[in-house]
Amino acid sequence: MFKTFLFLLFPILSLAQRSIEASAPKAVVYSGCTIPNTVALTFDDGPYIYGDIISQTLTSKGAKGTFFVNGYNYNCIYSRKVAARLQDVYNSGHQICSHTWSHPDLTKLNATQIAAELEKIDTALFKILGIKTNFVRPPYGSYNNLARQVASQMNKSFILWDFDSGDSVGATLQQSEAAYKQAMGNITIALNHETEKTTAMSLVEFAIDKFQEAGYKLVTAAECLGLDPYTFIGPPQQRDDTWFCPEKDDD
Ligand SMILES: *[C@@H]1O[C@H](CO)[C@@H](O)[C@H](O)[C@H]1NC(C)=O
Ligand SMILES: *[C@@H]1O[C@H](CO)[C@@H](O)[C@H](O)[C@H]1NC(C)=O
Ligand SMILES: *[C@@H]1O[C@H](CO)[C@@H](O)[C@H](O)[C@H]1NC(C)=O
Ligand SMILES: [Zn+2]
Repeated sequence: MFKTFLFLLFPILSLAQRSIEASAPKAVVYSGCTIPNTVALTFDDGPYIYGDIISQTLTSKGAKGTFFVNGYNYNCIYSRKVAARLQDVYNSGHQICSHTWSHPDLTKLNATQIAAELEKIDTALFKILGIKTNFVRPPYGSYNNLARQVASQMNKSFILWDFDSGDSVGATLQQSEAAYKQAMGNITIALNHETEKTTAMSLVEFAIDKFQEAGYKLVTAAECLGLDPYTFIGPPQQRDDTWFCPEKDDD
């Protein structure tokens, strides 16, 4: 009885092998906003050194953004500077979502591994920000039924995109700007990367200006879907010796 109670309280600690019924429910997959006249600018692969400047640019123009972050990708989410920057971005009112712990292609993993990828980043976001996010963006936009089923067990939905600025796959600033201009009117969730310098320095501002000139409201992904961003919001935890990445402790 007591064990069951603990298990319910701390599902995050249950890294037991998972098996999924073929008929298990699947996470909902969103790739566009549902609230008219809203657009969500999203930034993947951080937390990274450009988080602050993107956050400040958004804030200075009355816009909100959504950051899909990893635990260990370009750097370790628990590193002091990285965690502090993520807290700044969150405290500025932008939405923070999961992009898995280590940015794998989820279709190459089994249920246990998928659950671990989702739980480890959830744990980090709970410690560093005090939140439990409702949303995951599968890396590369790649997912299968198993990934949806594991995510559904954890009450997550997937958020994809309906426009890719191309910033992480070699598009120049001019090409990304042209792509935004050309698709304007059909864009509701725009994929960009926090890890791209030209995105942070120029593209974000360009995109905000274009959307605002066209009369769109730039909101978080949750807001553009009319959903709650988090199932839990509390204070961050105190740093302790669990704040490290097993892959590399680059504090
Ligand atoms: C998932 O893969 C890992 C690593 O290959 C393996 O150790 C584990 O037994 C697998 N679990 C299941 C449920 O297949
Ligand atoms: C998941 O959502 C269901 C339905 O809203 C709720 O009953 C359940 O408690 C949630 N579980 C967790 C772990 O948040
Ligand atoms: C928007 O999408 C529709 C349907 O795919 C297409 O016909 C239209 O040309 C697009 N408009 C713009 C501005 O890209
Ligand atoms: Zn990514």
